[in-house]
Amino acid sequence: MVQPKIAPSMLSSDFANLASEAERMIRCGADWLHMDIMDGHFVPNLTIGAPVIESLRKHTKAYLDCHLMVTNPIDYVEPFGKAGASGFTFHVEVSKDNWQELVQKIKAKGMKPGISLKPGTPVEEVFPLLECENPVEMVLIMTVEPGFGGQKFMPEMMDKVRVLRKKYPSLDIEVDGGLGPSTIDLAASAGANCIVAGSSVFGAPDPAHVISLLYKSVENAQKSS
Ligand code: DX5
Ligand code: ZN
Repeated sequence: MVQPKIAPSMLSSDFANLASEAERMIRCGADWLHMDIMDGHFVPNLTIGAPVIESLRKHTKAYLDCHLMVTNPIDYVEPFGKAGASGFTFHVEVSKDNWQELVQKIKAKGMKPGISLKPGTPVEEVFPLLECENPVEMVLIMTVEPGFGGQKFMPEMMDKVRVLRKKYPSLDIEVDGGLGPSTIDLAASAGANCIVAGSSVFGAPDPAHVISLLYKSVENAQKSS
């Protein structure tokens, strides 16, 4: 059985107090910290890079689940490995020619390789990355257009999650965008086990309560499947 992992998206945190925000999330029960890396090119927004991951790593031992929304992920592998990233998830839309090299390099740096799909990208595009000698270890299904927090969850993306869960029972399947108490049951029952949540956690009066609710929803869906 795959483990539920709740990953607050630090994009919704107070970036000026990143270390204490990370610590607060771990205290609230977060399993992973989701780090959104945006290059202002692949997506129309610019966030953080390896130097910030390196600084944060000095303050926490937490699993840093890095989501690379960048045009040239290969250039980020070495610096992110050095900085102390734990997971390195890149987008299939920009890695059609070099995903094998990417996966190999990510693993060589001791990180967990993941592949992400924008809402318009068919799920079949990740099958080759899962059915090869050196597969990715997580699939991240975007449930909003990447670029910004606080957008509306796209329920139609759950078909992709269902297809993946049926085909790959022990795969880590992550969902990202618009997840919170009102949408988690849809994602959990479709088979997602890694849940990214930004505004619903950071905007809540009691983030620990939201994190625990998300976790329990995944657990309950797994019990009844
Ligand atoms: C969007 C990012 C998400 C974002 C999610 O491009 O990948 O991780 O922070 O934020 P919410 O949960 O607010 O939709
Ligand atoms: Zn993300």
